Amino acid sequence: METNIGIFDSGIGGVTVLKECLNNNKNFNYYYYSDSIHNPYGEKSEEEVINYCDEIVKYFVDRDCHIIIIACNTASAMASLYLRNKYKNLHIIAIEPAIKLAYDNSILSTLVMATKGTFDSEKFKELFDKYHHKNFYLYSCVGLANLIENNDINKISKYLEDNIIKYNGIVSNVVLGCTHYPLIKKYIRNVLGDVKFYDGSIGVSNRLSSIIKENNYIGYGSNIYFYDSSLNKNKEERFYKILEDDYE
Ligand code: DGL
Repeated sequence: METNIGIFDSGIGGVTVLKECLNNNKNFNYYYYSDSIHNPYGEKSEEEVINYCDEIVKYFVDRDCHIIIIACNTASAMASLYLRNKYKNLHIIAIEPAIKLAYDNSILSTLVMATKGTFDSEKFKELFDKYHHKNFYLYSCVGLANLIENNDINKISKYLEDNIIKYNGIVSNVVLGCTHYPLIKKYIRNVLGDVKFYDGSIGVSNRLSSIIKENNYIGYGSNIYFYDSSLNKNKEERFYKILEDDYE
């Protein structure tokens, strides 16, 4: 059966997930929806985020997407259950902070960075209860996704200096629990040193491959379409630039 793939985030962060998906599944049309008019999701109520996500899924359904990737940890945490119940005929892949990956791979101290919305969610609490070990530190990075969305490098560096320098020398691993954060790995390294990063995009990409295989999906083409809800042309330029760039 033919399908397109829909992928969304509250802004530009989900590109980090799209890149991982393209490594294994290039032969599909991807529709990327950047909901920057509502960014940041992490400081919104669950009801608001569910409503935004519902509208985005309708946009994808109109474009013949049977597979939807929630490339936003906050939206996954708040809305994936609702979306899966409502759209039973769609495959909804929801990213989550790579707690399990860090847990399975290291007993060393790990800093988990995510939005307030993600940490406050029941979904995160369940995940954390299942896999946490005593060496996990949780830090709610209020405001950081927004600085990354606006590409404000000076403020990003200052934010990290002010807020996470206290983990320097204490943690060896960092779970990037928001899809915007992989874009600032080098600034995090400037503050924390040579830490090992974990993020949920590999899990998403693997899940996508299994769904495609199990359902014999094939693509209509191999284009990448971008839509930004604030109709900001700069976002589009930045989107295609990040797709090409190495942001390690
Ligand atoms: N990329 C989103 C996430 O993974 C950013 C959240 C926000 O908009 O606050 O959580």
